Amino acid sequence: MSEPLLCKPFALGGMELPTRIVMCPMTRCRTTQPGDIPNALMAEYYAQRASAALIVSEATQISRQGQGYSFTPGVYSPAQIDGWRRVTVRSTPPAGACSCNCGTSAGCRTPRFTTASRRWLLPP
Ligand SMILES: Cc1cc2nc3c(=O)[nH]c(=O)nc-3n(C[C@H](O)[C@H](O)[C@H](O)COP(=O)(O)O)c2cc1C
Repeated sequence: MSEPLLCKPFALGGMELPTRIVMCPMTRCRTTQPGDIPNALMAEYYAQRASAALIVSEATQISRQGQGYSFTPGVYSPAQIDGWRRVTVRSTPPAGACSCNCGTSAGCRTPRFTTASRRWLLPP
């Protein structure tokens, strides 16, 4: 029997993936508080799935004003960036890649996460 297509290399947006197995983004709300910081539990979660060719992270806000749910990770403070570094160093697939899912949660944002100016900072 020939190798299934799923297990064959695949070119995606300039990346050469060893297979077509990609982990989709899934919000988990497991950050350390205060500060919405990626932590050891998240590092373990992604490391357990590192056999995928590509991991797309859970939705990640680029600013406090871009946050839609409680406890989702940010990627704008030094502590958050350091937390992500610890996650990705453990979870980058051997021959694959990790991608940050910059989320907007546009349909369900709460005023709690906006500043007095009510301006939202979102990825394009
Ligand atoms: C519990 C759960 C959390 C999810 N979180 C995210 C997320 O953080 N970002 C995102 O872009 N999509 C998210 N999704 C959408 C999934 O990535 C999507 O369902 C998956 O890609 C499969 O696509 P389909 O539902 O159209 O079949 C989530 C879905 C579920 C069920």
